[in-house]
Amino acid sequence: MTAGANADDPAAAYLFPEDTRYMQLALALGRRGQGCTWPNPAVGAVIVKDGVIVGRGWTQAGGRPHAEPEALRSAGEAARGATLYVTLEPCSHFGKSPPCADAIIAAGIARVVSAIEDPNPEVGGQGHARLRAAGIQVDVGLCAEEAARDHAGHFLRVREKRPFVILKLAVSVDDRIAAAGHRPVAITGEAAKARVHLLRAQSDAILVGIGTVLADDPLLTCRLPGMEARSPVRVVLDRALRMSGNSRLVHSARQTPLWLMSAETAEAAAAAKLGAAGAHVFHLAADDHKPGLDPRAVLRTLSAQGITRLMVEGGARVASSFLSAGLVDEVWLLRGPDTIGADGVPALDTQPLTAVTRSPHWRTRATETLDQDTLTIYERT
Ligand SMILES: NC(=O)c1ccc[n+]([C@@H]2O[C@H](COP(=O)([O-])OP(=O)(O)OC[C@H]3O[C@@H](n4cnc5c(N)ncnc54)[C@H](OP(=O)(O)O)[C@@H]3O)[C@@H](O)[C@H]2O)c1
Repeated sequence: MTAGANADDPAAAYLFPEDTRYMQLALALGRRGQGCTWPNPAVGAVIVKDGVIVGRGWTQAGGRPHAEPEALRSAGEAARGATLYVTLEPCSHFGKSPPCADAIIAAGIARVVSAIEDPNPEVGGQGHARLRAAGIQVDVGLCAEEAARDHAGHFLRVREKRPFVILKLAVSVDDRIAAAGHRPVAITGEAAKARVHLLRAQSDAILVGIGTVLADDPLLTCRLPGMEARSPVRVVLDRALRMSGNSRLVHSARQTPLWLMSAETAEAAAAAKLGAAGAHVFHLAADDHKPGLDPRAVLRTLSAQGITRLMVEGGARVASSFLSAGLVDEVWLLRGPDTIGADGVPALDTQPLTAVTRSPHWRTRATETLDQDTLTIYERT
């Protein structure tokens, strides 16, 4: 084993101490693309020769070019004989662009360190095999856990035909998300709001129920200075198409996509009117005896459109239905310093918030202080 390698790591036998540092850099580069590379995963790549970083790349907006050709382009001739660090197995199939494995071979890369195999059946180990067949040393598995987390949306889309789902809730000290009568109330401060807008930018799509639209008339865009173009697709669950043509969502539908999930039985005239205003209306099969739309069918529809990372922003009924269906992967709970009172809207509709905060099925992954507010990120155990 190489000095400094981790004995628990499957790729450890081949690793040098600096390999982890370069893979961490590739992971950080890959995260730059999160939220704007769908339907493709947001991959990062670094090329190192004789201890010098000669190339860097990440998947570009819309999913192309991939990270590897970007890194090869920036390295130029220096790629010959170098090591490539990449956060996901290079592709081996002809899609809309030629296979990355072929570009790596043609560039004369000597060694590839890859974090994890791609479960996409069109790749599934064949990218690594193709590189090995060309005489390249391929070491797989470095920082695999972190890469699996970063690419979780891609993996879920391939394996379960659904995106990775983050439920965000902003709650008062007494677990309320709005004042009495659904009156909107400021729960968190500017730092927490900025964090939410960053999460929007890192999500492919953001979803709310029609109840939230009727109560708050939200815009659901990313409004961080300079990042407005990173706004996610806005999705509203609106079985009967109660959405008003005068809402801010509809008014902005030509600038930032608006997808309305309705039932097949929704009025055709309403669908036509909203469609003419720029919204895209989807019609899902719905059970007349059950309220709302089936969250699983909603996620399947979004996955078919290429969505890999979905932020669910409420309200209480939507949050409850996704949690009850076991379709939430992370909960981002922002807690403000004020109390709203018993007549306020509880964070969840059909269960107390302790169903997450005190449940053995959820564990705290991270906490952050954002001025007077706290952010706690829960993940499934
Ligand atoms: N503090 C926060 O973080 C935060 C975030 C968002 C919202 N809010 C607050 O939450 C309140 C709104 O919550 P809400 O519970 O009344 O409304 P909601 O959860 O936003 O929307 C519920 C409506 O969505 C439709 N729907 C379609 N499919 C659904 C499904 N699978 N599950 C649940 N609903 C589905 C249903 O109407 P149809 O049957 O007509 O389709 C349902 O009545 C507002 O006061 C808002 O200010 C707070």
